[in-house]
Amino acid sequence: MAAKHPGVAHTLAVEPYGLRVAARHGETILSAFRRSGIPVRSECGGRGLCGKCQVVLQEGAAVTPPTGQEERLLGGELLARGYRLACQAAILGDLRVYVPPESRSVLLQVASRGLARAVRLRPLASRVRVELQPPSLRDVLADWERLKWSVEARTGRPVRLDPELLPHLPVRLRALGWRVDAVLWRGELVVDAAEPREGEGYGLAVDIGTSKIVVHLVDLRTGETVAEAKAENPQVFVGEDIIARMTYALREREGLAELKRLVVDAVNNLAAAAISSGGVSASDVLAAVLVGNTVMHHIALGIDVRGLAASPFVPAVRGTVDVPASFVGLRYGRRALFPPVVAGYVGSDAVADLVATGMHEEHEPAMLLDIGTNTEVILNTGEELLACSAPSGPVFEGGHLRFGMKAAVGAVDRVEIDGGEIRYSVIGGTRPLGLCGSAYIDFAAEALRAGLLDSRGFFRRDSGDARLRRGEAGYEYVVVPADESASGHDITVSEKDLSELRLAKAAVYAASMVLLEEAGLGPEDLRRVYIAGSFGYGLSVENAIRIGLLPPVNPSAVLQVGNTAVEGARLILVSEDTLEEAERIAASTGYVELTAAESFPRYFRRGLRFP
Ligand code: FES
Repeated sequence: MAAKHPGVAHTLAVEPYGLRVAARHGETILSAFRRSGIPVRSECGGRGLCGKCQVVLQEGAAVTPPTGQEERLLGGELLARGYRLACQAAILGDLRVYVPPESRSVLLQVASRGLARAVRLRPLASRVRVELQPPSLRDVLADWERLKWSVEARTGRPVRLDPELLPHLPVRLRALGWRVDAVLWRGELVVDAAEPREGEGYGLAVDIGTSKIVVHLVDLRTGETVAEAKAENPQVFVGEDIIARMTYALREREGLAELKRLVVDAVNNLAAAAISSGGVSASDVLAAVLVGNTVMHHIALGIDVRGLAASPFVPAVRGTVDVPASFVGLRYGRRALFPPVVAGYVGSDAVADLVATGMHEEHEPAMLLDIGTNTEVILNTGEELLACSAPSGPVFEGGHLRFGMKAAVGAVDRVEIDGGEIRYSVIGGTRPLGLCGSAYIDFAAEALRAGLLDSRGFFRRDSGDARLRRGEAGYEYVVVPADESASGHDITVSEKDLSELRLAKAAVYAASMVLLEEAGLGPEDLRRVYIAGSFGYGLSVENAIRIGLLPPVNPSAVLQVGNTAVEGARLILVSEDTLEEAERIAASTGYVELTAAESFPRYFRRGLRFP
């Protein structure tokens, strides 16, 4: 092979896609994949931490030697078989790589619907039909005043002009023959003079999660979702959790702008997909309501996140942010409304969870948990609301686990151990690629019941179970043998995996207990526990209680409510009363900072054990 110089392109052949892409001398394989849009898992954002970006190279491939991270994460056996980490191996010549099934990004299971209360319809955006007299030499009233007076005569309320409309107003009124629908935002801002249509139009309800984005297209006349679209949050390439996103936003040049562009582009693309599948004209989309945790909220608005990144973790703004859609970069609708957040780590998604479930109105103690890379816990004591946020990390989404993966096609999502036999189910019914978070919880609970595991998370060496063995990283249990898996490797759960699970569940347990203690309550006082979010939707409640992830309550008191964040956004979009309710909730919820809670370390230590 002829020697090539830095800056000169090499050719990267990528299997099984049959692609040939250009690569720069010295760049990593992952970097070349990203530029070419080749989907590959990279949960740690290419930092050599997650071990998910594995590729297989032919012998003697022109790449840099294995790094320490590769030796640690892959081990000698896989390295000898040609496995490398795409984020570590730098390209030194033409190359052929194979992306094994376990490294491919695959379709995610995302809860896109959830429990939602009925609300009185009073959409944030509405239409008012007016027929104006055209101006004449005897009637030289200006265009805006002509429109304003007619709208006020119809609504009985004073209205204001959206400055974004003004430049286009003369053209609109004349092109439409002075018969228009004035589009009113929150009853008083005229944001458009549109072609007359039946009905109020449509709006977008958007849940910007750290991992996933869900968009609903909502008919403002009925309040119902007519189409939806969902996708992985593309910011995931810089890392799985909000800490990684903030670090990127603060450290990289144009980092915040890049993250904002990624998320706004994704929302626009999902909105386009929903509009298309709903058979709706894009011009009939009037507005959007967007919820998310406080970091996603700030990034989508282009707000500097340094206040959130360091103690005392203060957001730039807590109240409702109501801006032109163009300010955010949304291609659809005239306005974008971001409901209020509670605090630096309890965002508007948690407020939306509450308005959708109505938990805040209950008169007996109830708790809501939205479990993800960051877990929000809200306690209704029966008299007041208390909230906190626990850094549970990416474990529930398969991160930090040897064979962990998101709840996607190919993930084992359920595990049962019965009389020495193991049974599992796989999302999509394919051969297993790995285990998602709910499978680890099932496994731990079943292994505890079967006496394979002790409360410290160690396998009982004397269990005599043939699936238990000593692996490279200590004792491990074979859940899926090589001849059943998609990759041809055994899929195992190790004590190290269980240790990661214990750390994550201890954070959630401690957060719940700190709130209960603040209120002078115990788990036995809870009459209802709501589990929100995609992860919680696929969870076995009994097993989550068995391992101590959820408080020890009667399983029948637990409601798995799905994506109540997007449902709450929808309710706010179609009901001004609900927006006012959200503002009251955010203003009155007491925030408990766990890092300052004296009892947190005690509960965390207790939570590290299996009950
Ligand atoms: S180890 Fe390569 S992306 Fe995480």
